[in-house]
Parts: sequence; structure tokens; C-alpha cells
Amino acid sequence: MSRTPRRILITGGAGFIGSNFVHHWCDRYPQDRIVVLDALTYAGNRENLADLEERANVRFVQGDICDRVLVEALFRGEAIDTIAHFAAESHVDRSILGPDAFVRTNVVGTFTLLEAFRQYWNTMGQPSDYRFLHVSTDEVYGSLGPTDPAFSETTPYAPNSPYSASKAGSDHLVRAYHHTYGLPTLITNCSNNYGPFHFPEKLLPLMCINILMGKSLPVYGDGQNIRDWLYVGDHCSALDVVIHRGTPGETYNIGGNNEVKNIDLVHKLCDLMDELAPNLPVRPSHKLITFVKDRPGHDRRYAIDATKLRTELGWTPAQTIDTGLRQTVQWYLTHRDWWQPLLSTEYQAYYQQVYASV
Ligand code: NAD
Ligand code: DAU
Repeated sequence: MSRTPRRILITGGAGFIGSNFVHHWCDRYPQDRIVVLDALTYAGNRENLADLEERANVRFVQGDICDRVLVEALFRGEAIDTIAHFAAESHVDRSILGPDAFVRTNVVGTFTLLEAFRQYWNTMGQPSDYRFLHVSTDEVYGSLGPTDPAFSETTPYAPNSPYSASKAGSDHLVRAYHHTYGLPTLITNCSNNYGPFHFPEKLLPLMCINILMGKSLPVYGDGQNIRDWLYVGDHCSALDVVIHRGTPGETYNIGGNNEVKNIDLVHKLCDLMDELAPNLPVRPSHKLITFVKDRPGHDRRYAIDATKLRTELGWTPAQTIDTGLRQTVQWYLTHRDWWQPLLSTEYQAYYQQVYASV
């Protein structure tokens, strides 16, 4: 079936998931116009898009989603019909150290995009095929007990960290803009992603890099916290399906049905590193595991019920945790030139603050 090319604005497209999504979209839809808007904070990296910037249909704009004038100019100048909104402050530990940037980008930034898009969409005659996809997180639902059912789209919000509270605030604004103004919005709430271009501060890349450097592996608390892991490529394919087939105003949960305790995941990673990485400074890697002071307010368990996405939109993930993790480890082993420069003085200062006792 023929498809009308889209003109898509991807915010946060130089970050982890955003850049994977830009690659996905470029590969799948080479006829589309792709505009990436990213402020290049510490988490944004233009290197993630280096192989795409030569393409005539791809434009990178360094800028802030809170900049209303810039956002409006991009909508009009590029005749945008689709927004995939990834830009955010995304790390829970940083939100505990300093919540201000989280409220600014996640709440005010999303509000700025919504207001600019509402005005633009009205000017264009409220086209029914325009879309505003807001990429959000399962953390807005709070924490589950060991036998609670997984989060569904109707689970009440109960965010516990400044990060998840700011994401919840943005979700509510997006929902209200559909309800009040009829804006063609979509919300997705996804579980923990892993894969290429994941910034070193997050659990899996941090552990992987520390193993390569012979540094201790800081597991928070008792290591029994559970996350539901999804390969980033599967997240991107789910977002693609939601943009093309989702119903405006709806929310879709995205998850891989891969609940794993942190300590078990770290052991799995250690085993893979022992198998795949030559010349490790410490072997077996699990000797590096160190239990450290818990994250304040640490959510115990997340689990996503993605039945709606699977049954209504026909999405299925392609990777299991074993295949996805193997690919990810191989990527980090062959991309030292990507992650080594990210271990900057600024990053070391952050690391000291969070892991002072390690
Ligand atoms: P990330 O931190 O790797 O990337 C965020 C990107 O946004 C960076 O490129 C950064 O430069 C950019 N950015 C930050 N503030 C900006 C601003 N004011 N204006 C423009 N750009 C700005 O984040 P990620 O892990 O790729 O997450 C992307 C989105 O997906 C976030 O909204 C996050 O809440 C959501 N999400 C993440 C996960 C996960 O496991 N990482 C899971 C579910 C949902
Ligand atoms: O659930 C989706 C969320 O997943 C996204 O919304 C967030 O943007 C993303 O950062 C991620 O949040 P988490 O807090 O779950 O991810 P993180 O990688 O920081 O931690 C995963 C688990 O590992 C969590 O239980 C805390 C623990 N952990 C983390 C780090 C960095 C450790 O035990 N040690 C660590 O050093």
C-alpha cells in the first residue's frame, strides 16, 4: 500500500532512544523529511547521528524545546505534520540531585511544544492526519509489590521521583490537550530500554564499562529491584506502529515481558562479558559486584502489560533479553571510541557525587 511521506520533527533525537529512532525512521522511510531538534545537553551526542547528517532529507537543529519562537518557526518552515517527542531529562539519580532541569524541560518544554503545535495545527485547518507522539515512561505508575498485576493503561498514576513526577505532569498536559482542544496526540509509556548509544550513567552501560575498566559494580540496596527490559530497537518499532496506526487521544503501554531482578541482570551481563571480552582486568567479572547505599525512594518493581499494543496494533518485539543483551555487549565492545570521550571530567564529578562511598 502506498504511504504519503511524512515531515517529522524528532525532539531529543541526539539522545539514546531518540537517535535509535532517527536511524529507524531513516531506514524505513527514506522519502520522509526528518528534522531533529536537540539542545545537546550532557546526554545529547551528535556522534549518534554522524552517519545520517549527509542525507539531504535529514536536518539537525541545535535548540531548546522551551524556545517557543524556534519551535514555531520549525513547525511552519518545515511544514511539520508529525512530532515524535523524546527530549527530556531522563536520569532518576540526577533528578534526585537537582530536580529543576527536570521540571523545566519535561514539563515546561512539553507545554511549549503543545502550545506551539496547537496554534500551528489550528492555522493549518486542524488536519486529522497530523500527530503529536509523546514518549513517556512506566515510572509514572509508581512501584509494584511482588504479586501485583503489571501496569496497564488504566493504572492510576503514582510517580515517586522528581523525574517520574515531571514525566507524569507532561503526560497529563498532553492528555488534556487532546481532551480540550482535540489535538491529535498519542502517549506511550515504556519500560526500561537498553541497546546502542545508551549514556554511561545508566545501569547496563555503566556496568559494562566498569567491567572493562576493572572498576567495582555498584548495585543499589539489596539488588532485588525488578525492571522490565526492552531492546531499544523494539521500542522504536512500537513507536512507529503507534504513529501510523494508533488512535489519537489514546495511551499505549510498551514493554518486553522481561522482568529481571537487578542483581540477576548484572550477573547475566558479567557472564556475557567474561565470554565475549578478551583481556578483562578482573575475571570472573562478578567479583567486582559491590552492594552500595540504596537510591532514595527507589521503586521496587516495574512490569508492563502491553496487551493493548499487541492486540489492537499488532506489535511484537523482535528481541529476547538474551539476544538483545548479547548484541548490546558486542556494540559496547566495538564502540570504545563512542563511550570513552563521554567519561569526561564533568561525568567523573557526577560519578563522585552518586557513588562517593564506592
Ligand atoms: P536521553 O537522556 O538519552 O536523551 C535525552 C535527549 O534530549 C538528549 O539528546 C538531550 O540533549 C535532549 N534534551 C534534553 N533537554 C532538552 C531540551 N530542553 N531541548 C531539546 N533537547 C533536549 O534520554 P532517553 O533515555 O533517550 O529517553 C528519551 C525519552 O524516552 C525521554 O522522554 C524518556 O523519559 C523516555 N523513556 C526512556 C526510557 C529509557 O529506558 N531510557 C524508557 C521509557 C521512556
Ligand atoms: O522504566 C523506564 C525508565 O528506565 C526510564 O523512564 C528512565 O529514563 C530510565 O533512566 C530508566 O530508569 P531506571 O531508574 O529504572 O534506570 P537506571 O538504569 O538508572 O537503573 C536501573 C535499575 O538499576 C534501577 O533499579 C536502579 C539500579 N541501579 C542503577 C544504577 C545506575 C543500580 O543498582 N546501580 C546503578 O549504578
